[in-house]
Amino acid sequence: MKIILLGAPGAGKGTQAQFIMKKLNIPQISTGDMLRAAIKEKTELGIKAQTVIDRGELVSDDIILGLVQERISKPDCKNGFLLDGFPRTLAQANGLKEIKIDIDFVFDFDISDNEILKRMTGRRVHLDSGRTYHIIYNPPRVEGLDDLTGEPLVIRNDDQEETVKKRLKVYHDQTAPLKEYYNRESQKSDLKYCVFDATKSVEVLNQEIEKVLL
Ligand code: AP5
Ligand code: ZN
Repeated sequence: MKIILLGAPGAGKGTQAQFIMKKLNIPQISTGDMLRAAIKEKTELGIKAQTVIDRGELVSDDIILGLVQERISKPDCKNGFLLDGFPRTLAQANGLKEIKIDIDFVFDFDISDNEILKRMTGRRVHLDSGRTYHIIYNPPRVEGLDDLTGEPLVIRNDDQEETVKKRLKVYHDQTAPLKEYYNRESQKSDLKYCVFDATKSVEVLNQEIEKVLL
């Protein structure tokens, strides 16, 4: 099964990815997590990406397409994968089509900018795994610590209000056109394009996704 998670920053893509990857036993491929790992390791890519991400802008399509292509050629992607945060430009969507990857589902998480701003201030993450929490809506078992490793949770650099606003603008300008793109694709192929109301609770969304996958 090959699935794309589409949605604004903070819509809940990473949160639902945790559920889907366990459910279907397929890897989550988050371009955001991959870039944050490169930043942490201070690789050439990480050094280049850091300023772009901290400004709330997008890393170039060429770099991202290269990263994704390399990742999906690994053996663990043989039975499918979950793309989280990719594609997010029309050029990236076309790049994916060119390498003949047939997507089964596009799950589009719909939510207003105001709701997102509220969510982002409470987000805490475990950087190594990408596991995501919210201090009110999805708290860890022990305050400030990751459930699985017990390691400290942090606030992402790009979660300051001004950067979130910039990311939302970039989303509306460059990523939102993918809604129309995949809606049209669904009319001429087997791809299923499903829109979810992302303001619902994490558990209700889990159930709605499960129903679609059955
Ligand atoms: P990326 O890491 O992909 O960030 P994003 O798309 O901005 O999305 P987020 O991770 O911020 O949000 P999410 O939808 O995963 O929400 P989450 O589940 O965490 O990208 C970061 C940067 O990397 C980009 O800005 C760009 O620079 C670069 N980049 C990445 N991919 C790229 C690409 N393809 N091309 C170019 N550049 C790229 O949830 C958010 C919060 O809400 C959490 O606290 C969570 O606990 C809570 N929450 C989740 N669901 C619910 C719910 N149902 N109810 C209440 N609270 C909820
Ligand atoms: Zn995410």
